[in-house]
Amino acid sequence: MPSSNDAGTAARNDVSPAAPGDIPAEPAGSAPARPDSPPTGATPRTPGPGATVAAAVEVDGIAKSFGEVHALRGVSFRAERGTVLGILGPNGAGKTTTVKILSTLLRPDAGRAIVAGHDVRQDPAAVRRSIMMTGQYAALDLNLSGRENLELFGRLMGLSKSAARRRADTLLAEFDLVAAGRRPVHQYSGGMRRRVDIACGLVVRPEVVFLDEPTTGLDPRSRQGVWELVNALKEQGITVLLTTQYLEEADVLSDNIIVIDKGTVIAEGTADELKEKTGGSYCEIVPLDPSELRRAAGALGDLVPPAVAADLDGSERMSIPAPEGAATLAEALRRLDGAEIRLADIGLRRPSLDDVFLSITGHSGSTERTGEPR
Ligand SMILES: Nc1ncnc2c1ncn2[C@@H]1O[C@H](COP(=O)(O)OP(=O)(O)OP(=O)(O)O)[C@@H](O)[C@H]1O
Ligand SMILES: [Mg+2]
Repeated sequence: MPSSNDAGTAARNDVSPAAPGDIPAEPAGSAPARPDSPPTGATPRTPGPGATVAAAVEVDGIAKSFGEVHALRGVSFRAERGTVLGILGPNGAGKTTTVKILSTLLRPDAGRAIVAGHDVRQDPAAVRRSIMMTGQYAALDLNLSGRENLELFGRLMGLSKSAARRRADTLLAEFDLVAAGRRPVHQYSGGMRRRVDIACGLVVRPEVVFLDEPTTGLDPRSRQGVWELVNALKEQGITVLLTTQYLEEADVLSDNIIVIDKGTVIAEGTADELKEKTGGSYCEIVPLDPSELRRAAGALGDLVPPAVAADLDGSERMSIPAPEGAATLAEALRRLDGAEIRLADIGLRRPSLDDVFLSITGHSGSTERTGEPR
């Protein structure tokens, strides 16, 4: 399996020198990268209903099986130019498979996908010239410094020596890596490596960026850095497809969200629309003693949906649907009081994206994992 950056590198060997201080435009002789100018050489296609401008990513019924495993069973969605699309789903839902197909690391068995105006099956090289992918796969040379990695990427992509150096300087500054720039990458923290990895993918300005769990395992500060990066990409008109296991991240960063489960799209909309669909309010219960959470769930009985009851481990609070609002809250209080469970807090609130996720997939979205992201 080639790494993401190998794919990007292989396809981007005809790059014109970059101006410092700005992400360089697309390779010479290729499609212009500006989001407001349609790419040349794009596969002709009919826009979907109501669409006036071609989307940055259009996916229509893609399917992919690995032997007996049907990883994708007809996935369709679109991401408009310059927006962030959050792709959510429980482990094994098909998120990485989707991202790999769109970045041409895998071929779909069926369906059509257009990325930056290019068909992933008919013109994978053009797709690769238009994209950047990073996140679950790092492709850095750990013995080189951050600066050397960036310069190497620039040179591989056809920049002159001085242009590659200028671009490396700009990116080191943008990613807050100036001080660490000359140290070998193996001395970097996980968050710093992730930032260099992402910076390498930005040596040439992509039209679409795929970030597959870019913040998994990062500390809060590094995570914040990636959030800023996503917003910076968006401000530059770059389309971002982001998978994440942190639903708050999808909530904050995404313009639109699709939820994939068992290889199909089961919900889509803005975070607010998804919350609206889940409907009603939620009652959040925080026992004074977190180890009492399971006993509290027992006391609440039928107020606790099975998916919530199955997902209490390691949590200090639980959220239950409150279809009757204050009446549900009063009933919950009465039952908890009857079981003599002391509370740190209880209250009504709007559904969070976690509630939405749990109610439509039956899985928690924020399962902490150990080790490296998959
Ligand atoms: N190369 C492969 N060979 C066999 N099965 C695969 C392969 N890649 C993925 N799968 C299977 O396809 C399904 C979808 O996997 P995928 O990696 O796309 O899920 P995901 O949503 O990214 O999960 P996670 O949240 O764990 O990263 C899973 O059942 C997985 O085991
Ligand atoms: Mg994955």
